This record gives sequence, C-alpha cells and structure tokens, in this order.
Amino acid sequence: MQRKLIIGNWKMNGTLAKNEALLKKLTDGVTGMSGMDCAVCVPFPYLAQTQALLRGTSIKYGAQNVHQAEKGAYTGEVSVHMLRDFGCNYVIVGHSERRTLSGESSGLVAEKYASVQKAGLTPILCVGETLEQREANMTETVVGEQLAEVIKVRGVQSFRTAVIAYEPVWAIGTGRTASPEQAQEVHAFIRKKIAGFDEDFGHALCILYGGSVNASNAAELFAMPDINGGLIGGASLVAEDFLAICRAGTS
Ligand code: 13P
Repeated sequence: MQRKLIIGNWKMNGTLAKNEALLKKLTDGVTGMSGMDCAVCVPFPYLAQTQALLRGTSIKYGAQNVHQAEKGAYTGEVSVHMLRDFGCNYVIVGHSERRTLSGESSGLVAEKYASVQKAGLTPILCVGETLEQREANMTETVVGEQLAEVIKVRGVQSFRTAVIAYEPVWAIGTGRTASPEQAQEVHAFIRKKIAGFDEDFGHALCILYGGSVNASNAAELFAMPDINGGLIGGASLVAEDFLAICRAGTS
C-alpha cells in the first residue's frame, strides 16, 4: 500500500509568531509517526521562516501558486526558480480559489504545472467540480477536462512526478465534506482515466482528497482504496487537528 501524504494548505493565513508556534508543534508531533509523509504549503513571505524551522525535519514544504514564466517583467509574480531557492518541494497549481477568484483557466494551470516540473519540483494539481456541476451530473466531464489540459501540455507520463488533489468546490471551507463514497468514486475515476493510458502507473498515482477534512472524518476518508491522503485547509492551521489528521494517515 502507498504511504499516505498529508499536506496542509495554509492559504492566506499566518503571522511570524503563529507560524513559529505551529511549526514547532508539528515538528514535535510528527516525530515518531511512521508510514506517512507530511508537508505544508505556506504563503510566499513565510518560505524563509518555514525553511529555517523545518530544516532537518521530516516535514516538507512548498508554495500555493507560481508564475508560469521563468523570469522577466511580471511585477508582483514569483517564479519556480525562486521557490527552489527556498528549498520548496511542492507547488499547488489550479486551486479552485485561484481558478475562480483569479480567473485561472485550465490552460494556464497546465503551463504552471509544466514550469514546476521542469524545475524539478512536484506540482499538486487541484481538480474538482462546483455544486452546480455535480448536480448536473457533470463531475466526471469537468474533472476529465481539467486533467486533459495537463495531459495535452505535459503528457500523461508527467503524472509520475505529480500529485493530484481532488477538491470538490462545494466541500472547500464549507464544513460539508464529500462522503468517503463520493470521494472514492471520483478518485477511482481519476485513477482509471490515467491507468487507461498506462495501467502500471495508474496504480502508483498519488491522489489526495481536499475539502473540509478534519480530525474526525480523516480516518474514514483515508480508508478508501483510491484516497492516498489529504490536502487540508482550515484544519492545517491548528496543530492538534493537523497532527490528528496525520495520525489518521499512519499505517
Ligand atoms: P478546507 O480544508 O478548509 O475545506 O480547505 C480545503 C482546501 O481548499 C485545501 O486546498
């Protein structure tokens, strides 16, 4: 069985003082937990602090966004080379908050995904449907199209060095988690779609679930055969909750 991967997405939260307290509790708390990998994706200004506090620990870290270009006249943007300078392992691309609030298209997300991989970092590609799309029975079409754009730009083999996060938009920050069965159904669809191109690595694909995961529902979600871990928003800001979720991922 694949090791579970638990990643915290802090979103636009934190202060130097709060981060220090949180990261200290996390590094203490994960000591001795086995069979699980853990990471946090922090706001850009806190990467240096995160790098310093996580040095020599088993917790990896990354960013929540990146610009698709290597460098240049893009005021206010951050390139993947800058993220690599700070020791990032992961970069979230295509989070639904960016697709919606910043108007990121699947084409742009695919370009960002490509730039992350070319720099040797691991993209966490977020996919997921809105409530309206689910109710119109379009979940598989929407998720399929989001994946297809990346396959077009980078090829299906690129998923060997990527993480996919299924995050139904209606479950993000709403307290309304997908049931384990609902999540499993979409995870199985994603795996089958990728395995349709290449069976062996379809099995090895890492697919996280995100959307109102908390200390009480993590274990039943992680028990599903196609759920390889979680991308955690709100609960990743509370050390005890995030650690309880990590514990639910230990084998
Ligand atoms: P919540 O866990 O707060 O619902 O957020 C999920 C998410 O968007 C993680 O990327």
